[in-house]
Amino acid sequence: MTPAGRPPRGRLPRPSADQAAPAPSPGDAASSRLAERIRAEISSAPDRRITFARFMERALYEPELGYYRRAPDRPTDAGDFLTAPETHPIFGWTIARRIEELWGELGRPRRFALVEYGAGSGTLALSVLDGMRRHGATDLLETIRYEPIESNPHRRDDLRRRFVAGGFAGLLGGSEPNDGAGPAASDASVPVSGVLLANEFLDALPVHRVVVRGGKLLELFVTWRDAFVEAVAEPSTPALAERFALDGIDVAGLAEGQVAEICLGLEPWLDDAAGRLARGFAIAIDYGFDATELYGGRRLAGTLLGYRDHRVVENALEQPGGTDLTAHVDFTAVHRLAERRGFRTVSSTTQSEFLVGAGLESELQALQASPELTIADYTRARSGILRMLDPRHMGKFRVLTLSRG
Ligand SMILES: C[S@@+](CC[C@H](N)C(=O)[O-])C[C@H]1O[C@@H](n2cnc3c(N)ncnc32)[C@H](O)[C@@H]1O
Repeated sequence: MTPAGRPPRGRLPRPSADQAAPAPSPGDAASSRLAERIRAEISSAPDRRITFARFMERALYEPELGYYRRAPDRPTDAGDFLTAPETHPIFGWTIARRIEELWGELGRPRRFALVEYGAGSGTLALSVLDGMRRHGATDLLETIRYEPIESNPHRRDDLRRRFVAGGFAGLLGGSEPNDGAGPAASDASVPVSGVLLANEFLDALPVHRVVVRGGKLLELFVTWRDAFVEAVAEPSTPALAERFALDGIDVAGLAEGQVAEICLGLEPWLDDAAGRLARGFAIAIDYGFDATELYGGRRLAGTLLGYRDHRVVENALEQPGGTDLTAHVDFTAVHRLAERRGFRTVSSTTQSEFLVGAGLESELQALQASPELTIADYTRARSGILRMLDPRHMGKFRVLTLSRG
């Protein structure tokens, strides 16, 4: 647990048996409807099974019923998990500093876009823009255009409302519906100069699950036997073994029974990112590792997690649509696939190194110097910072900065 007393998003111990089970959520009826639809798809499939990626796609993105299509806002205290920008705006203020530098490195272009994947209700963007206002970056604020990419129509509405309330409505570019399931829609408009930002977005892209049996790579599918359960069979696509080969992962070196996740949504996402960005930078922040660590001996059960009500659930196949599903990001693959699309790696650090390097301390000092600061404000900022830097949780997230053009 963090100083604030709530678990951050990330790998957590399973809840102990003596914890009371959470009360059934109002989403349960919707989960039952979605489960019914997924069962129907399974029973009409030739082998009575679907890939886990397909299950995850429907569980997260099914219109109206999927986890990322429902009305309640999740990365909040009342929701299922908290992300760094939700803990305190100092996260966004610090990222604003980095974006101001990158804008300078690009020669202060007069048209500059901030494109955010998985924008949610705009918390990160609003704190970034607020940070620019606090830093007196008026030239940049006159230039910047913010383009959110968000799959949830409720969050897009919230974001629009919050931009109006925050006095930033004029900076809001065409909010993209991205109603397609899985990776962000690849309907990139005119490529821009700017920065692409993705905080805790890549971990939501659907993953295939594989398992090593008899030294061979097999796939874990989802089938129905009174409940959703796993079924092992030959891989649905050679792309899974190819990803391992390109990552330098030798199946013979994996443990018998080892489970792993492979995200084939990275390619379409990077195609989309490359199509949007003519010249500039992309910053991806997420929990994940290089392939050797991600697929090494410390994660023999893989990294798939389901979250509900700030808890890790026992069974990620239960309550589809009512459960957040995530898997750690393979940053070796992101890096390699990005380079193939004309990106270059600028840096790859932990979140704590990134925030400290970008000037988190100066932000805290500026906050301390503010005459309106109350003790409660200061305490909130301190505890937010501790969470963002905590080396056991958010502090060890990876921050990959890429450049292009
Ligand atoms: C974990 S939340 C993170 C929100 C925000 N970036 C933050 O850090 O607080 C993931 C967000 O990405 C959105 N999302 C997930 N998959 C998406 C996709 N394929 N395309 C666009 N948005 C997506 C979700 O609706 C949700 O708002």
